[in-house]
Amino acid sequence: MTDMTTTTATSTVLEASGVTMRFGGLTAVRSVDLTVNSGEIVGLIGPNGAGKTTFFNCLTGLYVPTEGKVSYKGKVLPPKPHLVTSAGIARTFQNIRLFANMTVLENVLVGRHTRTKEGLWSALLRGPGFRKAETASRERAMELLEFIGLAHKADHLSRNLPYGEQRKLEIARALASEPGLLLLDEPTAGMNPQETRATEELVFAIRDMGIAVLVIEHDMRFIFNLCDRVAVLVQGEKLIEGTSEVVQADERVIAAYLGEPFEGAPGDAEAAEVEAAEAHAEAAEAEAAEAADSTSETSTTGTTSTTGTKGDAQ
Ligand SMILES: Nc1ncnc2c1ncn2[C@@H]1O[C@H](COP(=O)(O)OP(=O)(O)O)[C@@H](O)[C@H]1O
Ligand SMILES: [Mg+2]
Repeated sequence: MTDMTTTTATSTVLEASGVTMRFGGLTAVRSVDLTVNSGEIVGLIGPNGAGKTTFFNCLTGLYVPTEGKVSYKGKVLPPKPHLVTSAGIARTFQNIRLFANMTVLENVLVGRHTRTKEGLWSALLRGPGFRKAETASRERAMELLEFIGLAHKADHLSRNLPYGEQRKLEIARALASEPGLLLLDEPTAGMNPQETRATEELVFAIRDMGIAVLVIEHDMRFIFNLCDRVAVLVQGEKLIEGTSEVVQADERVIAAYLGEPFEGAPGDAEAAEVEAAEAHAEAAEAEAAEAADSTSETSTTGTTSTTGTKGDAQ
């Protein structure tokens, strides 16, 4: 043990060294080193296809890296997702993965199962051993829902939540495993500017709870506001790592993004589109509901023959 490196500070939460991931002939991640310390928010940016999500998958045991090592608080992680979670790393996904037909509260309770003695099935089936832990678990889950601002929707089915709230719920579910490190994969994708700002505050609050954060995001303003340190992946390799100021000013980073301006919320246009689509869908739904109402009214009067104008199409 005396040989063990003395440079491993006690504050190191995550240490990835020489992580390489190959898929056949494609090297998606090439020899990437990355450290996250306690109290830090670290950003991971890079163009689409740069290998960011693949790197996350290597950290969380979804993929077994072709080469390299991942340690959490000084211990090498076994490449098994459930072992990584119980070690203390939680994550959210680029493509939301909630149980659509479970309530908001139930989704958070599922996230807790790694931290309670009772297993997932016991929690879902409410076996006898579950009752004891149930009260404490529910209290903690409700606390987390309050924290993310969704307590009032605890009994809603998660599939009925708007997109931005589903993303927040994913964060609550991840927090339910009481992690020491939270990995967020594009947490503001599809959010409107207000939701993005709120998410920024949420991530700061999570950091203040003593949880280190590693976040992938395309919204540069979000990343550079939020992060103590930013690493840039390009074609699987780490191009540069440094403070927001240093990374933001780097010519190669600007070139990698084809000169896309970092100021001025590049995600705004996309968010506006999502909002418009949502508003449109809501209006269409309301219209359909109204139409259904009036049809049922008119049908009781027996005057349904007036709806025959589209008869030739059938
Ligand atoms: N399971 C997989 N099998 C084969 N290729 C993959 C797999 N996952 C990702 N890739 C490839 O690895 C590269 C990096 O993808 P990804 O990590 O999703 O990038 P990013 O998250 O930065 O957009 C892409 O070329 C992608 O097609
Ligand atoms: Mg990705």
